[in-house]
Amino acid sequence: MGGTLATLELADLAAACDVLHAACAHDRAALVAEEKLFGASPRGLPKAIAARKGGILVGVAATCGDRVRVLAVHPAARGEGIGGQLLAACEAEIWQNAARRARLLDEPGNYLAPGIDLTNKDTIAWLERKGYVCRDKHTNLLVDVKHNAKVTEARFAEMVERCAQRGYHVRRATRADSEALSASISMGFGGAWPFEIERALAAEPPGVFVAWRAGRPAAFAAHDGNNQGLGWFGPAGTWPEHRGQGLGEALLVGCLLDIAADHATAEIAWIGPRDFYEKAVGVTGERTFAVMTKDSPFKRATIPPL
Ligand SMILES: CC(C)(COP(=O)(O)OP(=O)(O)OC[C@H]1O[C@@H](n2cnc3c(N)ncnc32)[C@H](O)[C@@H]1OP(=O)(O)O)[C@@H](O)C(=O)NCCC(=O)NCCS
Repeated sequence: MGGTLATLELADLAAACDVLHAACAHDRAALVAEEKLFGASPRGLPKAIAARKGGILVGVAATCGDRVRVLAVHPAARGEGIGGQLLAACEAEIWQNAARRARLLDEPGNYLAPGIDLTNKDTIAWLERKGYVCRDKHTNLLVDVKHNAKVTEARFAEMVERCAQRGYHVRRATRADSEALSASISMGFGGAWPFEIERALAAEPPGVFVAWRAGRPAAFAAHDGNNQGLGWFGPAGTWPEHRGQGLGEALLVGCLLDIAADHATAEIAWIGPRDFYEKAVGVTGERTFAVMTKDSPFKRATIPPL
């Protein structure tokens, strides 16, 4: 019973995609396998773990900082202790990083989801049996981008024009904007957003729209800065002095039109102002996620005086 654990190598990516495809019914994990298993976050590179049985890859996990980024066991290999082995290996890494609390999935800048999908009841129950508790909940909104009267090129053009009349130049960002944007977003918003903006800017065409005023960004919005290729919207922000001018709405529609080129539905991740999205583009569905955490069994190390 159980499997053999080892470091997951890039050469295992195709097999890892197969495991994620079979295992993760609630998240499109296989489509972002490389980003989740091997990609950086603002904290650095993850440690990716392979579980094999008879030489065949049957489970994968990745951890970074205090987060378990991804954890999955092929349905044909479940109930044999392999998920437990992978989780214990992730936790060992997390406690070694001196973290006081382990969390699943919601790693800033590189998250598969903002937590475990509430409809993934078996996994939540399994985690609870492993000592995890739900500390918070987050919501993603789903927006129809194919048949939506609020997501059209004509409406976008109108909104861009209205912004221009108010003194704002709305346009797609280019990679040459990277330095100015990153510096402004770092100072105005911080967190993992500059990291996600950089990733969105690297796409072709860059997945970032900006409203400029007097050579400085007044608002920005991005898509596919995390979970690249899934059509997720965010992050987005308008500097406080420029709010209430229709900038956020215009930039949102610009991004959703991009997403519509490849997807029928956009996912607005980790939302704050639900009413804003409802009014701006309509909401067709939502997903809610449980933030599952477990406290370290170890006491905080005594920090020696300087
Ligand atoms: C959650 C998940 C990883 C569990 O994987 P698993 O390999 O079945 O997990 P385990 O075998 O360790 O645990 C399952 C049960 O088998 C039992 N078990 C059977 N044989 C065992 C053995 N030899 N050693 C230890 N436990 C064993 C465990 O006690 C456990 O019982 P419990 O469910 O009552 O706690 C798996 O169901 C999965 O991949 N889910 C979908 C992926 C997902 O949604 N991940 C989150 C987003 S990435």
